[in-house]
Amino acid sequence: MKKTNPFRNRDVISIRDFTKQEILDVLKEAERFHKGAVPHEPLKSRMMASCFFESSTRTRLSFESAMQKLGGRVIGFSDAKATSTSKGESLSDTMRIVSNYADVIVLRHFADGAARLAAQVSDKPVINAGDGANQHPTQTLIDLYTIQKTQKKIDEIHIAFVGDLKYGRTVHSLVSALTNFSVRLYFVAPPSLQIPKEPLQEVKARQIKFSQHEKIEEIISRVDVLYMTRIQQERFTDNIEYQRVKGTYRLTPESLKRGKKTLCILHPLPRVTEISPEIDAMPQAHYFQQASYGLYVRQAILSLVLS
Ligand code: CP
Repeated sequence: MKKTNPFRNRDVISIRDFTKQEILDVLKEAERFHKGAVPHEPLKSRMMASCFFESSTRTRLSFESAMQKLGGRVIGFSDAKATSTSKGESLSDTMRIVSNYADVIVLRHFADGAARLAAQVSDKPVINAGDGANQHPTQTLIDLYTIQKTQKKIDEIHIAFVGDLKYGRTVHSLVSALTNFSVRLYFVAPPSLQIPKEPLQEVKARQIKFSQHEKIEEIISRVDVLYMTRIQQERFTDNIEYQRVKGTYRLTPESLKRGKKTLCILHPLPRVTEISPEIDAMPQAHYFQQASYGLYVRQAILSLVLS
């Protein structure tokens, strides 16, 4: 009997909606795209709407490239000011309309919960390309794919999250996903930007070992993966608070001296000052490779949802 595809026509809103097996299945599909072992133009004549209400380089362009490489076509916008939102149209009306013109909607929005709202009014699948400080599920699948590639496993790794753990949606998604695995977590942040209650409760509920720190030096010798993040200036309501914490972390070749030889540095990007460019050429730097995997992971997701 032919196996049914559980992703067909499904919304991709939160990584919490995926079982461990489903996560592993997407990573396996991404590997097929990475190896080029896929049918020619499987999404020919399918249409993707790329709706970006917030700025993006990697997510938008890799989704659009993925859809076109699959033989599909793309409509959309990257400047919400050029849409009828500027005339006062609501997100739910906009999404309801766009769902008439496309087979799938990829949505990035500045408001937490925007993707879930869009999915409620759209009769076409919605893929969350990042909603406020909430979730970024496709980035998480890229992060897991990169961890699997560099560590040859996900279980048993020690991973440190460094930087803006309060507003970083990629952190919230990845922490949730990792609670499906047997991992050790370290949260490194200024006290005002520590990991919020909700993801921490998930960690505790799954009895994942974790600790909280202020300094990278406290954990650098213990970890396999260092997940660096940018302090998200655009999400601060208080500029004085941003000025107080900006530039707290800056990884340099010197700071890696106590790290494992096999240490893997990841970053969802964009970076600002938290990783010195001198690190880019070091074997520990995997963040550009991580961004390149976005294409394969997004090809996998689009083909699973639309095929
Ligand atoms: N990682 C990520 O979401 O990057 P962009 O904001 O450039 O899409």
